[in-house]
Amino acid sequence: MHEEIRHPCVQHKLSLIRSVDTGHKKFRELATEITMFVCYEALKEVKTEEVSVQTPLAEATCRQIAEDIVVVPILRAGIGMLEGILELVPTARVGFLGMYRDEETAQPVAYYQRLPYQTETGINIVIDPMLATGGSTVAAIDLLKEAGTKNIVVVCIVTCPEGLEAVEKAHPDVKVYAASVDSHLNEKKFIVPGLGDAGDRLFGTT
Ligand code: PRP
Repeated sequence: MHEEIRHPCVQHKLSLIRSVDTGHKKFRELATEITMFVCYEALKEVKTEEVSVQTPLAEATCRQIAEDIVVVPILRAGIGMLEGILELVPTARVGFLGMYRDEETAQPVAYYQRLPYQTETGINIVIDPMLATGGSTVAAIDLLKEAGTKNIVVVCIVTCPEGLEAVEKAHPDVKVYAASVDSHLNEKKFIVPGLGDAGDRLFGTT
């Protein structure tokens, strides 16, 4: 299950963030902006409840978000998407999963975990700019489910068919929202055309 957000504003910003000429300051700003657009879509199925609000003229029947929202960035690159989603949902709670991909084996290595308590009605939104082989995302979802999370969605900036297939196979109940589903993985398991190493580009560590 996945959805690619093909809005012209997202397409435009993707063209900028992909460019090798985009430095880390601009890259960070674009990651925040793209995250807001993609998360806006991902949040469309969040449950709401009816509330009554007094306007200057009359009483209005309105709706407010009724779900406990937990955002889970996969360190380190996921941090680059945190500001964007917290702009949309300032009351969200935040959990952290530290994970890097071994450069030789491309397998995820977990090194840190700090998750908030889980509520029965909560939704966890996993954020990571890159969903490549899907190994890190699948491992993150495994950990969240072990912690008792039932409702999970994934938001990324760029993914590819191989990664989507891996997540779908391991966790068919989890929907992935992406700004772009790119062509394929290269021999080093990098997304092509992609945007390079998101963590390095976000934090200027190339
Ligand atoms: C990147 C990216 C994902 C993972 C994607 O992290 O941010 O977490 O690789 O690859 P996968 O889908 O094949 O698992 P990286 O290992 O570069 O760590 P970093 O975030 O610390 O830069």
